[in-house]
Amino acid sequence: MAAPCRALAALLPMLLVAHLGSAAQLAVGAQNRLRSGLNPHPVQLRTPPVRPLSALARLGRSLFYDTRLSASGRMSCASCHVPADAYGPPSSAPVMLGGPRLLTPGVRAVPSLRYLYRQPPFTIGPDLQNGTDVPVPLARQIRSALRQHRVRKSARQPLAAAANQVPQGGLFWDGRADTLEQQIDGPLFNPAEMDGGTVDEVAARLRHGRFAAEFIRLFGPSVFDNAHLAVAEAMFAIGRFEREDRSFHPFSSKFDAWLEGRARFTPAQLRGYELFNDPHKGNCAACHLDRPGPDGQPPLFTDFQYEALGVPRNAAIPANRNPDYYDLGLCGPYRTDLRTQTQYCGMFLTPSLRNVAIRHVFFHNGVFHSLQQVLEWYVGRDRHPERFYPRDAAGEVVKFNDLPPKYRVNVDTVDAPFNRRPGDPAALNRAEIQDVIAFLGTLTDGYRPARH
Ligand code: HEC
Ligand code: HEC
Repeated sequence: MAAPCRALAALLPMLLVAHLGSAAQLAVGAQNRLRSGLNPHPVQLRTPPVRPLSALARLGRSLFYDTRLSASGRMSCASCHVPADAYGPPSSAPVMLGGPRLLTPGVRAVPSLRYLYRQPPFTIGPDLQNGTDVPVPLARQIRSALRQHRVRKSARQPLAAAANQVPQGGLFWDGRADTLEQQIDGPLFNPAEMDGGTVDEVAARLRHGRFAAEFIRLFGPSVFDNAHLAVAEAMFAIGRFEREDRSFHPFSSKFDAWLEGRARFTPAQLRGYELFNDPHKGNCAACHLDRPGPDGQPPLFTDFQYEALGVPRNAAIPANRNPDYYDLGLCGPYRTDLRTQTQYCGMFLTPSLRNVAIRHVFFHNGVFHSLQQVLEWYVGRDRHPERFYPRDAAGEVVKFNDLPPKYRVNVDTVDAPFNRRPGDPAALNRAEIQDVIAFLGTLTDGYRPARH
């Protein structure tokens, strides 16, 4: 069915032109649709197929909720990645507590686990393989990137920046894991999270756990002979669950319905959408991409790239009590292979904005607690930094105070809305900020159209 449908879709504008008389009239039709809150160019989204979970993914689901894998016996993946909160954190605490007695604080805000199924592996610049299967070593990617000029990011031409040789892809705020299957050894063993202990200890819990029989059924009787193998299989199963289960990529927001022509924006949502896409206003879509792909792939509101935005230091993170401690994202301390590449210090992954309206902590260090605060900072960072950053002993405002002074040059000051100076007009005024927030509210999954 798909092919004839697409052919028909291609034909449709022509048929309409014939019917309406002129392209100008067609444009007027589109304008009218937009004004009434409808998408003038509805698309058919291509979302991942819904299938029953494989046996492996079912095991992964059990493990995802299994508190017995943790040292405390009380913490599972779902404690921090709460299904009802779009697999994000349950509270407004900037970091979660983990460890043996659930008293050890983490260092970064918990990201949502939704919409990671298309996250590409970590590279510096696109197309690392040059048409072959041999990955180009990171060191070579970096050398080539140093020679390249970075294209400014504009919501008008969001794809122009896709060719930039900048860090992109990967999981975690610093991209230190490539795949969902790989990353689980992080939380499972992280002493501030599930604190699973050694590989042998975790394997022993699997062997004596409720799912041991299922393990043997799926991986064979010798699976527990090798602790590393058993843990790797457990990680793989959890990764399969995150990939296969519809709840990780439901695409059931009002925005998705709007893209397909099945929902109307309110006037505020429509204004917000336009501000989000206007390169001279929010310019948000330059990094948080919001157009469907040519093949109908729904947008994920991230370009998968890394940026240093210079968000304020969060005094509520216990690790930050040490004035010499800095979370530098790509160049450490949790990621270790780019330590010497100081041009990347302060860079963090651009997160998806899907379900952002139901979050209570924002940015990698959870420094803000509402979208209002986030937007005020985006608009005010460069116009009145004194509202967001502290002053030093000499009374000078310490802009970008969550980075050591020598790395503050890495902060993005070229892409709108970060290209402002004190005294410049605001990219978004108060009412416009409310409109952008109204638009962000359309990205929450679980939209039910009102019945008439
Ligand atoms: C104590 C809270 C906590 C627990 C428990 C926890 N996580 Fe996380 N998770 C985090 C934090 C914090 C991050 C971000 C860490 C970073 O970027 O360094 C994260 C990041 C991730 C990411 C990367 C997401 C992204 O957007 O890149 C995945 C995937 C993930 N966790 C899966 C899991 C799985 C699977 C489990 C269970 C085995 C788990 N987590 C248990 C707190 C937790
Ligand atoms: C130059 C690229 C860029 C532009 C432009 C941009 N963002 Fe972001 N956005 C990022 C990055 C990178 C982060 C994560 C930074 C960090 O945590 O240090 C982020 C984080 C966010 C977050 C926090 C999400 C979370 O899960 O914590 C929100 C909300 C957000 N952006 C909204 C917007 C809006 C609204 C606009 C337009 C006014 C915008 N962004 C413009 C790159 C960008």
